[in-house]
Amino acid sequence: MPRGSIWQGSGPFSRLDRALRRGAVVALISIALVVAAITTSIAYFVDWLPENASEERDGIDLVLWVTVGICLFVFSVVASVSIYAGFRFRARPDDDSDGPPIHGHTGLEIVWTAVPTILVTIIAVLSAIVLAENDSAKGKPMVVEVLAQQYAWQFTYPENGGVKATTLYLPIDRSTKLVLSARDVIHSFWVPEFGQKQDAVPGIVTTIIITPTKVGNFRLICTELCGLGHALMRTRAIVMPQAGFDRWVRQQRQGGGGATTTGGETDAKGLFASTCGGCHTLSKAGTSGMVGPNLDDLSLNPEGVRQQIRRGGGGMPPFEGQLSDSQIDSLVQYLTGSTQ
Ligand code: CUA
Repeated sequence: MPRGSIWQGSGPFSRLDRALRRGAVVALISIALVVAAITTSIAYFVDWLPENASEERDGIDLVLWVTVGICLFVFSVVASVSIYAGFRFRARPDDDSDGPPIHGHTGLEIVWTAVPTILVTIIAVLSAIVLAENDSAKGKPMVVEVLAQQYAWQFTYPENGGVKATTLYLPIDRSTKLVLSARDVIHSFWVPEFGQKQDAVPGIVTTIIITPTKVGNFRLICTELCGLGHALMRTRAIVMPQAGFDRWVRQQRQGGGGATTTGGETDAKGLFASTCGGCHTLSKAGTSGMVGPNLDDLSLNPEGVRQQIRRGGGGMPPFEGQLSDSQIDSLVQYLTGSTQ
């Protein structure tokens, strides 16, 4: 029988042919097991993921690992057949003849269509369940409005007297509903430890639920290319016990929101670092942003600075309405040394 007969399922087989087939099956399974063992070890023993710090991460990780498992299975089968075929059916260097004419194998084609269809359907159904689950809050969620703009985040707490912050403060073990909007282009909210990710799109409002399960200080990053300062559009998400969160809200409300109104050097420095430092270099504040002008090199006049902060322009967003008048005053004073 010609070699191509291995793919032709019908007809009687000689004893030799059956033995060859059994040998092939054993070889294929052995190679697949070795490949599966290597790839599974790489998946399992390397610490791929950031710490899990939200309830929503559980479902997201489950989808990830089910998908990885399916990929490892498919990869092992394909690698095994490729490696086996590469050795077993290799042409000799001096063999320029055509291979035997072979037709497809209907049974095999049905299998390699049906199996991936089932696997992809499993991933789709599991993803839909996890998405629906992660979209539903535990109890009544606390609302935080998230405003994204080139290249900064701003968080407003409408249920807590409209407190505003450039760092996201959250109480632990309570669902928070983030209501996202964008001022200019598309941005995307992501804290790797929370898992949940959502775009902020100009003209529409999007939401996600986050239920933190660990106290900590996490990276909060923009994960949609939004311009020159995209890589710098990051801040922190700080998760605290409810009592600490309540205390923070009280302090913010007493202080008029953000840095305090007393205008002390440290407060203005902190306000500058958190609000402006992502884009501007200023050595006395220890910032090194490269998006906007280097403020060490400019001579700044108080009125010009005040207007620039209020109205923006030249690639800088307006901060009127986001920073209070007293915060703008303290920034102007900090930057120009003027007390007017
Ligand atoms: Cu905003 Cu990238």
